[in-house]
Amino acid sequence: MSEREFERAIEELIGLRERREKGSELYKIANEVFDKSTTETLSYLHRRGWIEHLQGVVSTGKEANVFTGVTSEGEKVAVKVYRTYTTEFRRIWEYLAADPRVGYLPKDMRKLVFVWTRREFKNLQRAIKYAVRVPEPKIFRNNVLVMEFIGGNGPAPRLKDVERELEPQDLEELYSFTMGVIERLWRRGDMVHGDMSEYNILIWDSPVVIDWSQATVKRNKMSVALLKRDLWNVINYFTRKGVHTEDFNEKLRELLEA
Ligand SMILES: Nc1ncnc2c1ncn2[C@@H]1O[C@H](COP(=O)(O)OP(=O)(O)OP(=O)(O)O)[C@@H](O)[C@H]1O
Ligand SMILES: [Mg+2]
Repeated sequence: MSEREFERAIEELIGLRERREKGSELYKIANEVFDKSTTETLSYLHRRGWIEHLQGVVSTGKEANVFTGVTSEGEKVAVKVYRTYTTEFRRIWEYLAADPRVGYLPKDMRKLVFVWTRREFKNLQRAIKYAVRVPEPKIFRNNVLVMEFIGGNGPAPRLKDVERELEPQDLEELYSFTMGVIERLWRRGDMVHGDMSEYNILIWDSPVVIDWSQATVKRNKMSVALLKRDLWNVINYFTRKGVHTEDFNEKLRELLEA
């Protein structure tokens, strides 16, 4: 792809030519974070109708950027684009190496991120199987994951964003919801999320758990450590919010015995 072709591909993807928004945040972020191979991947998804155009930026992170997109059928979707260059190579490598579901581990960062992306897709599918409310995964390719968009005009707020507006009863319900998810995943799904927190729960028609990139299965030797982390973070957070919570050690014992 030449420089010019690259620019055009981005413009086409984000529907700029019709919308003339060269100065927009979306355009800036797209130019900054999409390298050639990412643009090619997005173009592929565009040709297949999964991304008619991108609409806006939901979140820019160290590892991934999340965009809103629209499919050729007019359905709104969330598009999570992992950076193919990240400083987290070591962490990603360790997490993947410990996962018994992952076979061959590529040595180059870009391909490792592809494995990471595919694993998040599989985790979403697996969580749905155990009746956990997550964004429905649509498709993935290389470092791009397309999933159900949670929200209306804008994205749904995270628990962290609305915690101050919640009544004690709402917080209690959210606490039981979250503990219920952790338990169901562990007991029935042989699975652990690994980053369960007020940042990864969206408040919508019902609470929705997002960000499944680090989730893994019980057979993984890191799984108990991840389970502990989830329990610890959740119990601590809700205790700080004044909810009557369970004892961490008791809960952990209970889950590990079953
Ligand atoms: N399906 C979705 N619908 C609406 N908003 C979403 C969706 N997925 C993610 N978001 C928004 O984007 C933000 C970042 O997403 P996510 O938590 O998956 O990635 P991250 O924490 O940046 O990256 P990483 O997976 O590398 O930890 C979320 O906090 C949420 O606000
Ligand atoms: Mg997150």
